Amino acid sequence: MGVVRQLRQVDADDSGIDAAFRADVHSGLAQAQKAIPARWFYDTMGSALFEDITALPEYYPTRSETDLLTRHAAAIADHVGKGRAVVELGSGSSAKTPLLLGAIAPSAYVPVDISGEFLRDSAAGLAEKFPGLPIYPVEADFTQRVTLPREIAAGPKLGFFPGSTIGNMVARTAVDLLRDWRDSLGEGALLLIGIDRIKDVDTLIAAYDDPAGVTAAFNRNLLDRINRELAGDIPVDDFSHRAIWNDVHGRIEMHLVAGRAMEFSVDGRRYAMAAGETIHSENSHKYGPRDAGLLLRAGGWTPLAAWDDVDPAFALILAEATAFRSAP
Ligand code: AVJ
Repeated sequence: MGVVRQLRQVDADDSGIDAAFRADVHSGLAQAQKAIPARWFYDTMGSALFEDITALPEYYPTRSETDLLTRHAAAIADHVGKGRAVVELGSGSSAKTPLLLGAIAPSAYVPVDISGEFLRDSAAGLAEKFPGLPIYPVEADFTQRVTLPREIAAGPKLGFFPGSTIGNMVARTAVDLLRDWRDSLGEGALLLIGIDRIKDVDTLIAAYDDPAGVTAAFNRNLLDRINRELAGDIPVDDFSHRAIWNDVHGRIEMHLVAGRAMEFSVDGRRYAMAAGETIHSENSHKYGPRDAGLLLRAGGWTPLAAWDDVDPAFALILAEATAFRSAP
């Protein structure tokens, strides 16, 4: 079957610039604590830099999750059964996907990603590995409502949300997203989700502030992207990368720190920053076992099984969109 067709569900204005990016940058830079949503990291350059991060010795989440998928593929397949359509949220390079697809004999594969170019390449790569599998890539922001290809509407589905991407969202947004996807995938659907665990601070910080500076480059690329796509003149070299553990919120935060007082413009609008002021560019929430279960249940998903025997700690959780019953 191979790649059947690529659906595009992103808003672009006439000049081809994503209107949502523009709006998020302006509203984020106007706040007292400047903040830009982490999903804007992933232009083609940013997606490639993230792939480089996943190969860093300090960035354990990819290794830990791949290890779990490799060792527990048969157990996961036992729970999932055959013939489900796999819908992957934020598929990126789809590097871990073959481990899952190879184990469960899916009926179709639907990668959903915001980076269209990346999506095309990775879908083509998977089509070669799984020649009989229909692949329906969807270029979309999975935090917005996504219309699934009609070919998979009727059959059973498995959502696949690896990488601890859910960690980018604050609890309220994470719950909204889980509920939306519960509605889209429907009752009886399963969700296999990767969730990073709380662990010692040194391990966490090293994963988000690597000595090779790849994460710093990934962080700064957000500013380059603003300059490229929104006619900005941000002095990118005068920003440094900072990663901190926020223990109250249970999250790693990434910031871009202004090294001096500055003014710049984006898209004709002027902004000023003081020396040391930051743009908050990412949250990466970490969860204990009970926190993770609570988050999923709040989003309408009942955990069925979890695999977490890995170091540094990481969890793969399988949950089901069960019918809502009032209880007790
Ligand atoms: C892709 C969101 C899971 O939070 O660990 C990696 C992104 N940021 N290094 C993460 C990221 C800095 C990553 N996620």
